Amino acid sequence: MERFYPDELIEEVRISNDIINVVGEYIQLKRKGKGYFGLCPFHNEKTPSFYVDQLKQLYYCFGCGNGGSVIQFIMAVENLDYIEAIRLLADKAKIILPEGEDGEHKEIAKKKIELIKINVEAARFFYERLNDTQNSTVKGYLKERGVSENISRKFGIGYSSTGGDALYKYLKSKRYDDDILLESGLILKSKQNTCYDRFRGRIMFPIFDLRGNVLGFGGRILDNSQPKYMNSPETLVYNKRKHLYALNFAKNSSHKTIIVVEGYMDVISLFQYGITNAVASLGTALTDSQGRLLKKYTEEIIIAYDADTAGMNAAMRGLDLLNNLGCNVKVLQIPEGKDPDEFIKKKGPGEFNTLVNKALSLVDYKIKALKNEIDTNNTDEKVIFLNKAADLLSKMDNDMEREMYIKKIAKEYEISQESIFAEVLKRIKPRMGFKPVAVNVEGKGKIKWSKDKGQFERHVNNERILLSLLSIDNSLYKLVKDKVTPEYFEDEDNKKLAKIVFERLEKNKGIVPAELINLAEGKVSNIFVRLIQGECNFDDNIKAIMDIIKKTDLFKLEKREKEILDLLSSLTNKKEETDSLKLELQKILYKKKSI
Ligand code: UTP
Ligand code: MN
Repeated sequence: MERFYPDELIEEVRISNDIINVVGEYIQLKRKGKGYFGLCPFHNEKTPSFYVDQLKQLYYCFGCGNGGSVIQFIMAVENLDYIEAIRLLADKAKIILPEGEDGEHKEIAKKKIELIKINVEAARFFYERLNDTQNSTVKGYLKERGVSENISRKFGIGYSSTGGDALYKYLKSKRYDDDILLESGLILKSKQNTCYDRFRGRIMFPIFDLRGNVLGFGGRILDNSQPKYMNSPETLVYNKRKHLYALNFAKNSSHKTIIVVEGYMDVISLFQYGITNAVASLGTALTDSQGRLLKKYTEEIIIAYDADTAGMNAAMRGLDLLNNLGCNVKVLQIPEGKDPDEFIKKKGPGEFNTLVNKALSLVDYKIKALKNEIDTNNTDEKVIFLNKAADLLSKMDNDMEREMYIKKIAKEYEISQESIFAEVLKRIKPRMGFKPVAVNVEGKGKIKWSKDKGQFERHVNNERILLSLLSIDNSLYKLVKDKVTPEYFEDEDNKKLAKIVFERLEKNKGIVPAELINLAEGKVSNIFVRLIQGECNFDDNIKAIMDIIKKTDLFKLEKREKEILDLLSSLTNKKEETDSLKLELQKILYKKKSI
């Protein structure tokens, strides 16, 4: 029997499984330009024509035409149906799906629910220990660190007593078996086979998932002893590489950005000062899954790591990782020796927001870091700097931005813009050799475009670009839906596709490029891959789609105009008809002007 999960959940499963990692478990992938190539697992071949795009999270085989998202990949490679594939991927990502019917899956699902229940019980238990009237030292500690009662409650902060097995006893009183308690990571077993609490004498921070389930804990010791933090281990429900602390709150904040900090206390302090859009990566380097999760909820990410070297290195790595995922990312620099928590307490939210506004873009940050490495009075070092800067600038997509940086650097180092530009150009040239996908593929299905394709072909292509853009950025739909309907499309295949795409978007169901490619049949799907990989990489998608609509509008008007003129030259007798055609023609001319 088929079971259907909510779309939102399926989407969570999809974005929690990076297609490169998943596909990489089955075949060897080699990076080539912006994507990865490998030998197709779905047909026999000697030269790789299986392409995986990390940015768009889709795969496509130029040999056999198989393509889709990570879900279709698992379906095809594991020979599973849709729901089974979702289950497999959810397991990989430790995402809890509602109970299924089959035996093994049911067991695991039950266990996960049980583990969450235990975590919730524990969170309550810790919360009550903190709020015991006797517990003035711990409350004093929080007070001293400026954590208000309100915020403490909101984040569910608690305390684990020093006793040794208080939580264990409590959970036993709730009739949980030792086995599941040990599996929760909250309880440990000694060599003498006695059970005891993992967390003792620590301030407890529950870690929530997006739906508010408690998945695990971080526990901070009150003094300077080590380790400062102790965290829940990996369990069936908790994977620290896939979660971000406080994303459940930050995703609902009205801010357009999300600020990524290092620690629990940073998030909590910022929140208290009204900065409710911070999440913590919990002491580990940012991972791809976390990056994709962030990308889903925000347009811009600001990294605000501690000002120490470790923090700066982590920021640099996070910057690259997020940038490679196609996120718009900046780095906020906290003046010497401070973390966001200390800074905001000392200087207040106003000054923190100033830092936010002054956050540096990727290139700015990297150039600044380069500058810090060199002595500008030393000619050799200056040359090294310029070479590295040229490397950096050559990787920029936006020409105008690049020019701006060239000007800036030229001025600062008294070098002519022309010579910097020449250095940059040297580095760009070889890259131009990489034409998206199709060029790398021999033989089958290759589409040739001649420069002088007919007007109608161009129009059909524009319609396809419109559909591609909608699949790349679903949010464009609300901007175009008043202007365009499936009936608007003149090519029959495009019309069919548009019907599906529009229906999906109307129902807020979303569509990814990989699906569009799947839906388009035969040769046309190759054209879509080509468009999505190449021609549709616009700097400004809104402008691009509006331009395309203008072009298609114009095409249609001109087509009708020609029809009318033909009719007018052949119709000689019926005055009524002639008049109405003339009127229509006038309207068309007027409309053409207003485009
Ligand atoms: P920090 O040492 O910056 O912690 O580590 P913090 O949140 O600022 O804590 P305070 O202000 O000293 O109380 C950043 C994050 O790294 C993880 C924790 O998630 C912490 O919040 N961490 C740190 C550990 O997991 N274990 C440790 O021993 C230390
Ligand atoms: Mn701190």
